[in-house]
Amino acid sequence: MSLWTPESWKNHTALQMPEYPDAAKLRQVEESLSKQPPLVFAGEVRALTDQLASVAEGKAFLLQGGDCAESFAEFSAVNIRDTFKVLMQMAVVLTFGASCPVVKVGRLAGQFAKPRSNPTETRDGIELPTYRGDIVNSNEFTEAARIPDPERMMAVYHQAASTLNLLRAFAQGGLASLEQIHAWNLDFVNATPEARHFQKMAARIDETLAFMKACGMTAENSAAIRETSFYTSHEALLLPYEQALTRKDSLTNDWYDCSAHMLWIGDRTRQPDGAHVEFVRGVHNPVGIKAGPTLPPDDLIRLLDIVNPENIPGRATIIVRMGADKVEAGLPALIKAVEREGRKVVWSCDPMHGNTITAGDYKTRDVSSVLREVRQFFSVHRAEGTYAGGVHFEMTGQNVTECIGGAHKVTEETLKERYRTHCDPRMNASQSLEMAFLIADTLKECRKDLRGE
Ligand code: PEP
Ligand code: CO
Repeated sequence: MSLWTPESWKNHTALQMPEYPDAAKLRQVEESLSKQPPLVFAGEVRALTDQLASVAEGKAFLLQGGDCAESFAEFSAVNIRDTFKVLMQMAVVLTFGASCPVVKVGRLAGQFAKPRSNPTETRDGIELPTYRGDIVNSNEFTEAARIPDPERMMAVYHQAASTLNLLRAFAQGGLASLEQIHAWNLDFVNATPEARHFQKMAARIDETLAFMKACGMTAENSAAIRETSFYTSHEALLLPYEQALTRKDSLTNDWYDCSAHMLWIGDRTRQPDGAHVEFVRGVHNPVGIKAGPTLPPDDLIRLLDIVNPENIPGRATIIVRMGADKVEAGLPALIKAVEREGRKVVWSCDPMHGNTITAGDYKTRDVSSVLREVRQFFSVHRAEGTYAGGVHFEMTGQNVTECIGGAHKVTEETLKERYRTHCDPRMNASQSLEMAFLIADTLKECRKDLRGE
């Protein structure tokens, strides 16, 4: 394979890339970004790779979630706090339910660039370039707003830095305490209609925490109860931004993309000879590969050859996003190919992107389809004797009405009440937690199976 450099992707076809009209301004921004401090550190990235290696071995579970697209407009401490809080609540339920550590990764602090199905958008007969995420252009439907502006990359860098600052404080301070999170889960269960099933598990967690306390383990004296590790991730789509934040680690001399701990390649930019694959092959971050229904098993193996030639566990996560109607037919061939080739991967389920539907004027997802895809994903793995190691969600801590269903019964009619996403519909706080309770049960059964119990 040819020599890799942080800019060798430029010798490959890069799909989904904006065309910046002002090349000089682009160079200027890239230059100043490349002088900024890294957002994450190589040592943290290696710690995440190790944790993902234990997921690949069936000893932990990956929980990855957050916005479809972060935005400048929705940036606030409250929003970051609430997303963090719900991810922690989900993690506690999963940790308890499956009796295994949960690796927590946010789609946060850099998830701004969006791949689009169409390069243009037409409204009332007017055709404009499509919105590609706040890191590229503005969502507003005017000609000026849709012109790609490189300065936006700098604004994203600063927003990501503030977001990470807050996340680090939350993870080490009061918001990660097991006792606090459990108290929030009790509030959730009490506010949820028909929550009998959840009540049982919540009561068991209550008992366990009381037992631990009686043994002398509390948030005050035990870091394991008080703190957690929380990592960030986003789609490595806008390559000038990723390249500008790529640094050589002085300890190992390896390259790391210091814009996030984990990166993934989207379903639209996973061509084995494409620029995005070329870029990620040279950085040492854990890499996710989205696997949609059109990914042939041979291409998946080829991608793993390129991205993870040494077959390092924790380096590659396959994020399956086939859709509830396709996963049962499509997933076995991918699993069989990976098993046949002896590849060590994390298998994660993205039950969002294959289940997007349109209801009136809104793009939405039905929570029941989302859940159905998760169940099928687990059952296919069970049948193949492999480990369903993670889930990948689009969610928010806010009480939005973007996905249909859930215990509070968001309907097609009520979508308009609080529909705020800048891109795909997200599950709200209570839909996300309901999902976590349901996955916890399934996960427990699957782990028992794998242990031969
Ligand atoms: C996404 O994760 O927001 C996304 C666009 O996913 P995919 O590449 O799987 O369509
Ligand atoms: Co999305």
